Amino acid sequence: MKTLVLLAGVLAVSIGFAGAQGPASAPTTTRSSSNSSALTPEEQAYLPYTDPRLAFSANKTSFKILQVADMHYGNGTSRCLNLLPEWAAAGSCSDVNTTDFLGVLLDQEKPDLVVFTGDNIMAPDVNDHAVSQRAWRKPVEARNIPFMTIFGNHDDEVAKATNATVTRETLMTVDMESPMSLSKPGPKGLFGTGTYAYAINDASGKPKFVLYLLDSGSYDVTGRLKGSYGWIHANQITWYNQTSRAVEKQNGGQNVTAVGFYHIPIPEYENAFTCACTAVSNGQPSRTSFADFGNGTTLAGTGLKTQTGCTNQTCYGVKQEGVYSASVNSGLLAAIVERGDIKMMNVGHDHVNDYCASFQGVQFCYAGGFGYHAYNTEGFPRRARVITLSANGTISTYKALDAFATPPYATQDFQQIYPSPSV
Ligand SMILES: *[C@@H]1O[C@H](CO)[C@@H](O)[C@H](O)[C@H]1NC(C)=O
Ligand SMILES: *[C@@H]1O[C@H](CO)[C@@H](O)[C@H](O)[C@H]1NC(C)=O
Ligand SMILES: *[C@@H]1O[C@H](CO)[C@@H](O)[C@H](O)[C@H]1NC(C)=O
Ligand SMILES: *[C@@H]1O[C@H](CO)[C@@H](O)[C@H](O)[C@H]1NC(C)=O
Ligand SMILES: *[C@@H]1O[C@H](CO)[C@@H](O)[C@H](O)[C@H]1NC(C)=O
Ligand SMILES: *[C@@H]1O[C@H](CO)[C@@H](O)[C@H](O)[C@H]1NC(C)=O
Ligand SMILES: *[C@@H]1O[C@H](CO)[C@@H](O)[C@H](O)[C@H]1NC(C)=O
Ligand SMILES: *[C@@H]1O[C@H](CO)[C@@H](O)[C@H](O)[C@H]1NC(C)=O
Ligand SMILES: *[C@@H]1O[C@H](CO)[C@@H](O)[C@H](O)[C@H]1NC(C)=O
Ligand SMILES: *[C@@H]1O[C@H](CO)[C@@H](O)[C@H](O)[C@H]1NC(C)=O
Repeated sequence: MKTLVLLAGVLAVSIGFAGAQGPASAPTTTRSSSNSSALTPEEQAYLPYTDPRLAFSANKTSFKILQVADMHYGNGTSRCLNLLPEWAAAGSCSDVNTTDFLGVLLDQEKPDLVVFTGDNIMAPDVNDHAVSQRAWRKPVEARNIPFMTIFGNHDDEVAKATNATVTRETLMTVDMESPMSLSKPGPKGLFGTGTYAYAINDASGKPKFVLYLLDSGSYDVTGRLKGSYGWIHANQITWYNQTSRAVEKQNGGQNVTAVGFYHIPIPEYENAFTCACTAVSNGQPSRTSFADFGNGTTLAGTGLKTQTGCTNQTCYGVKQEGVYSASVNSGLLAAIVERGDIKMMNVGHDHVNDYCASFQGVQFCYAGGFGYHAYNTEGFPRRARVITLSANGTISTYKALDAFATPPYATQDFQQIYPSPSV
């Protein structure tokens, strides 16, 4: 077993660090190995990756993840969209504001890990995909914070100014150049690029949480669902099932609490909102300034219980646009409910939705839009989601906003996700 693990480590080093420059800290990402002798080689191959930076210890009882959704980084000078007049008047605004905001959040929150959940670049507006891909991650690299990346529907589109094209595989290779990247292309043969899992181990080296990152694609690939966004395909769902089962076996028959990340929401995000978040006043208050998005105006709905699996609990966040999922349902939620381990899923894609809503025992969360070159609602501050995993097994979350003030930063909507607070 030891040789196998070592080999995997060496492999990860040689792949992940080809041509890398930056801090000297040695990468030691490996396949999770504890109890692996009880598993068949096939099961072992499914085990999540581990990394010494992704672990609790006697001194470290909470693990903080910053989810950054929809940066829409352009060519470096792409203009900001949907600013309040006073924000636009305050100074020139471009992609630089997006990376500045990332730097502010990293300094304020000091996350242990950043997860970029797609539409990291707005490919139509880049000149060279790789150049922009390398530009947005600079604030994370400068602070030596590990990150994981998945792609959205805009990352691999054609660049309008140059007609440059790129594949997700190439984008992933560019991502993995970074010494801080923990991203993986995922098993060969699976749909897409960037379907992988990591375990966050407890102080004794046992998996305490698992992070599942799934590539939800970009657009329809069949030619029969014209205009549909992408979805998580059957072989990825099978991979999740197999991974989850291997983790459970490794862990002595106990499943391990997990958190999922993908770009495009699954269709049940709509059901979840209807169940848990129907607004008290059934409508969005009109919002014209930052203050309107402060603590006082969070929608707190009581679930309508119109469907089995709805929970009646306070829902935090807003829904200011539709749920733009694929026009088919590929069945991911059924697999998650069967396995019972994923307690929270986190997506982006719909920039002005930032709610968490509980449905069928899972919290359906949006991060809200991050980038200044991404569409928004005037006055809705750019934001990110902070997810805290605790050594005692709990998951909690809140949002961190660009407050456009001094200090340029605020937090909102703290809530415990798991175990769900009693209602
Ligand atoms: C971790 O805690 C132990 C005692 O519990 C202490 O001796 C050690 O210095 C701490 N390490 C760090 C890095 O804080
Ligand atoms: C970026 O794109 C804008 C048009 O959207 C263009 O005006 C600008 O010159 C471009 N900048 C660079 C560095 O290519
Ligand atoms: C963008 O950054 C510039 C330079 O720091 C600043 O003057 C401007 O106010 C910022 N705009 C926004 C909307 O944050
Ligand atoms: C890109 O392709 C379009 C359509 O084929 C063409 O009209 C345009 O001139 C091309 N632009 C560049 C910069 O090559
Ligand atoms: C290994 O499996 C046994 C039961 O088979 C379990 O009690 C133990 O906690 C597991 N150890 C690890 C490190 O997962
Ligand atoms: C919400 O309230 C807390 C405590 O009063 C405050 O620290 C925080 O800045 C507020 N957030 C916003 C967005 O107003
Ligand atoms: C949800 O819970 C609240 C508070 O306990 C209660 O007032 C309300 O009637 C419940 N709604 C439904 C549909 O059960
Ligand atoms: C998960 O795998 C088990 C065992 O192979 C199988 O019985 C079950 O149907 C699978 N579930 C899904 C959703 O694929
Ligand atoms: C996983 O564990 C949860 C409790 O933590 C349980 O409700 C669920 O049934 C378990 N799922 C499986 C497939 O064992
Ligand atoms: C778990 O730990 C967190 C801090 O990391 C704490 O806020 C929370 O109250 C704890 N929950 C339980 C049930 O012990």
